[in-house]
Amino acid sequence: MEPEVIRDKEAMRKWSRTIRSQNKTIGLVPTMGYLHEGHLSLVRQSLTLADVTVVSIYVNPGQFSPTEDLSTYPSDFSGDLSKLAALSGAKVVVFNPKNLYDYNEGERKKKINGGGEKKVVSCVEEGGLGHETWIRVERLEKGLCGKSRPAFFRGVATIVTKLFNIVEPDFAVFGKKDYQQWRIIQRMVRDLDFGIEIVGLDIAREKDGLAMSSRNVRLSDEERQRALSISKSLAMAKASVTEGKTNSAELRDMIIQEVVGAAGRIDYVEIVDQESLEGVEEIKSGVVICVAAWFGTVRLIDNIEINVSL
Ligand code: PAF
Repeated sequence: MEPEVIRDKEAMRKWSRTIRSQNKTIGLVPTMGYLHEGHLSLVRQSLTLADVTVVSIYVNPGQFSPTEDLSTYPSDFSGDLSKLAALSGAKVVVFNPKNLYDYNEGERKKKINGGGEKKVVSCVEEGGLGHETWIRVERLEKGLCGKSRPAFFRGVATIVTKLFNIVEPDFAVFGKKDYQQWRIIQRMVRDLDFGIEIVGLDIAREKDGLAMSSRNVRLSDEERQRALSISKSLAMAKASVTEGKTNSAELRDMIIQEVVGAAGRIDYVEIVDQESLEGVEEIKSGVVICVAAWFGTVRLIDNIEINVSL
């Protein structure tokens, strides 16, 4: 059975309140669609925690910079619905709003200096004319992906807050592939007293080790093969740690060599504390090794947690 689709935020809120009045719990899995097995594992986890699960499918313009092409983000809404139907359609509802930033793209006109009007393409690009409230998790958003994508996490934290306010879930499930995102949401929920339990789920991988991502479809066969250097080098680094190699700089160099050797362009390789996301010089239990690298035009991220006693 295909899940019910709710497209309007008022209807979503009403649905949630009805469910709550029946003393049922709600899980939320926020996504940008083009669902793969990684997303489905988040939904399965949510179904074990809550009576019903809302899967939001919304490509959030607020987390794309003007140079990152929002319009090429892959989508397959009917495919997404079939995948969810195969899980447990009756217990899943899809929230698929058209726009969560107060007015429709392109519908607004902005007065420009010297008279006349200019069409506003997106509230976000135009510097927040239609939307000017942003959530920032100030320190955690700075490092790792925040260095090359400075407005990304404020966009994520803001849209997740909006989804929390609309859906009012008891649980929300995130994938640890987006490690920094997961930690930022956890921190935001703690700092702002949301009554929501944030659950982080281990990375879902293809058989050959590639971390699942909606972006993987944009890799050519050859790039995809080369991109395996990320997960391979992370696994090698973890094995080296268990063999007693605990110098961060040496392990970073080893990962960089592997990825660059496979013609990947490194954005960063960082070894950081799992909670604070601050860099560590000497590896110990409770760190995570994070990598971001480009293969062709596709930027991939991956990570591995080290939770062994050394
Ligand atoms: O991880 C994602 O797909 C997005 O960043 C999220 C959490 C759905 C917010 O748009």
